[in-house]
Amino acid sequence: MKVVVAAEPELSQQIAQAFIQQIQVKPNSVLGLATGSTPIHTYQHLVEAYKAKQVSFKDVVTFNLDEYVGLEGTHHQSYRYFMNTQLFDHIDIQKEENTHVLLGTGDAESLQHQAKAFDAKIQECGGIDLQILGLGSDGHIGFNEPGTPFDSLTHCTSLAPSTITDNARLFDDISEVPTQAVTMGLHTIMQARRILLMATGPKKAEAVYHLVKGPVTEEWPCSILQRHPDCAIFVDAEAYALVSSQKE
Ligand code: GLP
Repeated sequence: MKVVVAAEPELSQQIAQAFIQQIQVKPNSVLGLATGSTPIHTYQHLVEAYKAKQVSFKDVVTFNLDEYVGLEGTHHQSYRYFMNTQLFDHIDIQKEENTHVLLGTGDAESLQHQAKAFDAKIQECGGIDLQILGLGSDGHIGFNEPGTPFDSLTHCTSLAPSTITDNARLFDDISEVPTQAVTMGLHTIMQARRILLMATGPKKAEAVYHLVKGPVTEEWPCSILQRHPDCAIFVDAEAYALVSSQKE
């Protein structure tokens, strides 16, 4: 696993650059996208690159990692809303046909059906060429919380109490944070040909330690990335602090 330790804005710029190069080499790339605070600057760089005519997204296909159950795509905290406002509305991507964000609404049966169709659609598009990941403080990737089986495909899941607490900052009240989500599974994520994970700040230090140094265990979902043949992590010094201190 390649590790890049740098500060912002360099981290986000490097990840944006990797996406731009990917699209320049293969204009119809299939990209796996993430939400959360961490990739926001990366998306800003991509919008700037598009406006500077360095890259076009017209043939790009995207699949997002996850979505909250219970939020309409128009809700300001839904991940569909996030992607539209942070990226899709500002670039030349074919939003209706080529961007795939799981729907968070519907009954259990329709959510399950949708999850299955999502994995099939990824396959149909040729698989994900480049996947960006954030990291939960409990080691989740997507919304795959501790204990999620490594062979999981896209599925509905309950959020860990710590994730609800972490994400409450984005809602008016913690009671408004959804308790369930739909997410790509760990197996789905691991099938991406190339993965770039990004983590910043001291709250991610423990998870980064388990990601890099820990045993591969379902208790730390991110640790599965040690088994990926082409995964790089981009971290700042604070997120990498526990790994650095163990080296001495
Ligand atoms: C959220 C998302 C993840 C994201 C992570 C970190 O709950 N489901 O996809 O990577 O938690 O979020 P942030 O970047 O805001 O710290």
